[in-house]
Amino acid sequence: MKKSMFKKVIGIIGITMVAGLVLAGCSSKSSDKSVTKIQNKKTLVVGTSADYAPFEFPIVKNGSKQIVGYDMMLAKKIADNLGVKLKIVNTEFPSLISELKNNKVDLVMAGMVSTAQRKKVVAFSKSYYTVYNVMLVQKDKANDFNTISSLANKSIGAQQTTTQESIGKSQLPKSNLVTEASLTSLTTELANGKLSGVIVEKAIADNYVKTYPDKYAIAKVKLTTPKDARQINVAVRKSDKALKNRVNKVITKLKKSGQLDKMFKKAEDLQAKYK
Ligand code: ARG
Repeated sequence: MKKSMFKKVIGIIGITMVAGLVLAGCSSKSSDKSVTKIQNKKTLVVGTSADYAPFEFPIVKNGSKQIVGYDMMLAKKIADNLGVKLKIVNTEFPSLISELKNNKVDLVMAGMVSTAQRKKVVAFSKSYYTVYNVMLVQKDKANDFNTISSLANKSIGAQQTTTQESIGKSQLPKSNLVTEASLTSLTTELANGKLSGVIVEKAIADNYVKTYPDKYAIAKVKLTTPKDARQINVAVRKSDKALKNRVNKVITKLKKSGQLDKMFKKAEDLQAKYK
């Protein structure tokens, strides 16, 4: 072999080795900085909309207002796993996804289901609860709404930008759909007789009936919950893959140990205690 040729071969081997090392380095660091970032600021910031007992709701304990609930218990577990403090940011449900996209919060935990439309914008963790929709009505009208047609020309509430709003639009075209940013204003209007019903998820409706048995009931009318509107998950920025993995690990562990179910029960009891 000529000397120049020898040099060339060695050179190519060298370049190949360097390229290999660089690639290996990249793949072992393929996880992004999302977890480290949170650990550096020592705080996990979770966005929610505290109008959704038992998932998230405000209570006054020892004179100070706190946001508690099933989502908040899970949020605390995630913060603990990351070794950081938890900060909860309470906003109206319709602005939560943009808060996440604009880096105002690290995660959204708001009883949010992973619809195909939302998946275009953000990523979701594994599911930690399954839901379906019902019609919450006034207690004394419990037997008045057994069919979709019994709801024609009635004012029916649904929270803005939720899957309940889409269900109302698509399944109750003959009703007068009333939407608001806050779910609690709708349920108050229902109690006052301004609305005939409010579309809500069964877990939420059950909580209203249990907490205020003289005010609310669940009607017999059947609503269909689309497949992509059944799983409640944590919303994460698409870029934050490492954080999403962490959240999934926490959920899997809590599911396996039966802790998730216990947390849900505990959240329901809290709501009854502080109503
Ligand atoms: N699960 C429904 C959705 O994702 C409603 C969630 C409302 N959450 C709340 N905190 N108000 O669209």
